[in-house]
Amino acid sequence: MIKAIVYKSNTGFTKKYAELLSTETSLPHYSIEESDKHLQKDDKIIFLGCIMAGSIKGLRKAKQRYNIRAAAGVGMTEPSAEYLATLRKTNRLESMPCFYLRGGFDIDKLHGLSRLILSAANSAAAKKNGGNNTELNRADYVSSENLCELMDWYRRNN
Ligand SMILES: Cc1cc2nc3c(=O)[nH]c(=O)nc-3n(C[C@H](O)[C@H](O)[C@H](O)COP(=O)(O)O)c2cc1C
Repeated sequence: MIKAIVYKSNTGFTKKYAELLSTETSLPHYSIEESDKHLQKDDKIIFLGCIMAGSIKGLRKAKQRYNIRAAAGVGMTEPSAEYLATLRKTNRLESMPCFYLRGGFDIDKLHGLSRLILSAANSAAAKKNGGNNTELNRADYVSSENLCELMDWYRRNN
């Protein structure tokens, strides 16, 4: 039996998915930082982590502690089969159910290098988009519809 949803979130979008998934599955959700207080080593979990430079944050730690039955990366990239395949490969998730969820960004919640990197990426994207300089400072794609595939998997496997 899957015991809980464990997540790693930097600016809150992955946390929102964990909350939605928690409501739909009735499983409790814990951040990776506080999960130790509630879970035993090797407990079965679903892991959600934000993506930075292709890497799903918190995944390594979660793999060491828990029995991950399914993992999802939360990022800004537009969803596609290609991106999911890349995510699986980069994060060595070929042998387990793996999902990609589109999150969001909020420039005001970022600091230091992360803020710089995202600002630069946004300016480049704004210029590419027909040359007008409208920069996007926040976006939120989180929705329960995006959890359909993960929920299908959960219903089939629990
Ligand atoms: C420094 C940095 C690197 C990122 N790299 C990626 C990436 O490689 N792929 C992607 O899809 N999104 C990337 N993102 C976007 C985040 O994954 C996205 O904003 C996500 O929703 C953040 O989740 P959180 O709010 O739970 O931290 C990056 C964001 C930052 C700030």
